[in-house]
Amino acid sequence: MAKRTRVKDIFTGRIGQEYRVMGWVRTFRNNQFIALNDGSCLANLQVVVDFENTDPDLLKRITTGASLSILGNLIASQGKGQSVELSATEITVLGDCDAEIYPLQPKKHSLEFLREIAHLRFRTNTFSAVFRVRHALAYAIHKFFNDRNFVYLHSPIITGSDAEGAGEMFQVTTLDLNKVPKNDDGSINFKKDFFAKATNLTVSGQLEAELGALALSDVYTFGPTFRAENSNTSRHLAEFWMIEPEVAFNDLNDNMDLAEDMLKYLISYALDNCAEDLVFLEQRLTEEEKVKPQQERSEMALTEKLRFCLDQPFERLTYTEAIEILKNSTPNKKGKFQYPIEKWGADLQSEHERYLVEKHFKKPVILTNYPKEIKAFYMRMDDDGKTVRAMDVLFPGIGEIIGGSQREERYDVLLSRMKEMHIPAEEMSWFLDTRRFGTVPHAGFGLGFERLVQFVTGMTNIRDVIPFPRFPGNAEF
Ligand code: 4AD
Ligand code: MG
Repeated sequence: MAKRTRVKDIFTGRIGQEYRVMGWVRTFRNNQFIALNDGSCLANLQVVVDFENTDPDLLKRITTGASLSILGNLIASQGKGQSVELSATEITVLGDCDAEIYPLQPKKHSLEFLREIAHLRFRTNTFSAVFRVRHALAYAIHKFFNDRNFVYLHSPIITGSDAEGAGEMFQVTTLDLNKVPKNDDGSINFKKDFFAKATNLTVSGQLEAELGALALSDVYTFGPTFRAENSNTSRHLAEFWMIEPEVAFNDLNDNMDLAEDMLKYLISYALDNCAEDLVFLEQRLTEEEKVKPQQERSEMALTEKLRFCLDQPFERLTYTEAIEILKNSTPNKKGKFQYPIEKWGADLQSEHERYLVEKHFKKPVILTNYPKEIKAFYMRMDDDGKTVRAMDVLFPGIGEIIGGSQREERYDVLLSRMKEMHIPAEEMSWFLDTRRFGTVPHAGFGLGFERLVQFVTGMTNIRDVIPFPRFPGNAEF
């Protein structure tokens, strides 16, 4: 058996040469033309069948969804739409597919329907394109950091601490939920649990990344994170992947520079390496937007929007400046915001973030120096005692794509912040130790990987950019 050649490589193959291809039938037209796809690229390979000399029983088994191994000769295409095609000399059915009951008919299916058959949706143009782009972005992230001498640190998935202090965690336990051991005071006796303490799935690898950065200087994590927040939105998942660089000796400005460089690098990597898929996804999005009301449509096509983000510096401003803009904005005055902005201190909702990015500045925005009350305990306190050195990067159509900060490196200040915010300092002596033994200024951030993939692919719902989404009420597959 000749070795398999990927469909992608067939398109640059040699005319007259014999190749073996394997893949799935997308369509079979006139008992003569098979559109074969193996996921290596968007395009199908046209395979020409000599139907007069082919066993009719075999022809009947060539149905949409069936998997085939085909030997044939590469010829210049007679028809329109492709440059080459394979003239089949031998066809073997690897797996039959009953077209009557196969859920993926050769027609347009809604994304909602495809989400229900997520085990098969990889076989559609849209999802194969999305997952190839997702792969390219994951690879580019490692390349970006490797080229800059960062160390990839694997932070634990099971932890005993709440890195964000937000309490939206999934518990990890081997206790029998029908017979939970109790202490005398009625509380749960976690001493009897697997780790002899209460544990949960991590919400962020940041605290561990900080420990690494205070020795290796430049580190990043890239792993799954979990949040039990009950948000059924198009931008939240219960299980998502986060990239968290952490850099010793960096301040907030360095942190913003790193975030901006990284996002621009990743977007241009996708433009350079995923052109075929992005053109397809752009057409898909344009079609999708046609049914939307005029004012909700994006003013730019997908790749134009991506290039637009590369061409100019992101707008940098403080939370305080942003609040002034929002307070005086037309939607705020006309009562168009669901959460009106009345005074300094208000937490920003996605509607406000998107107003700043899409309407006011019309480019990506980095907001800094938020009120300490609405940010995590580890952010460095500003001299005014009111704001912290936080930064959120806001993107068109997405809102917050990155959240980060310069960290509080001063032992006393950190300890008192932890007490103020009821963070159990006793249990986190390991974290405080870095501030006791050779502390340094440092900064880092978290990029939500799926939000990045959403932005680059133009997919509207975050559930469509991760193979098997987890969200409230759903852990299928
Ligand atoms: O802003 P967040 O909560 O920041 C942190 O977790 C910090 N520890 C990061 C750091 O400084 N090292 O989350 C960071 C990013 C958000 O900006 C968003 O892109 C994404 O993670 N994110 C989510 N993505 C999908 N589903 C969710 N439920 C998400 N929650 C946050
Ligand atoms: Mg955040």
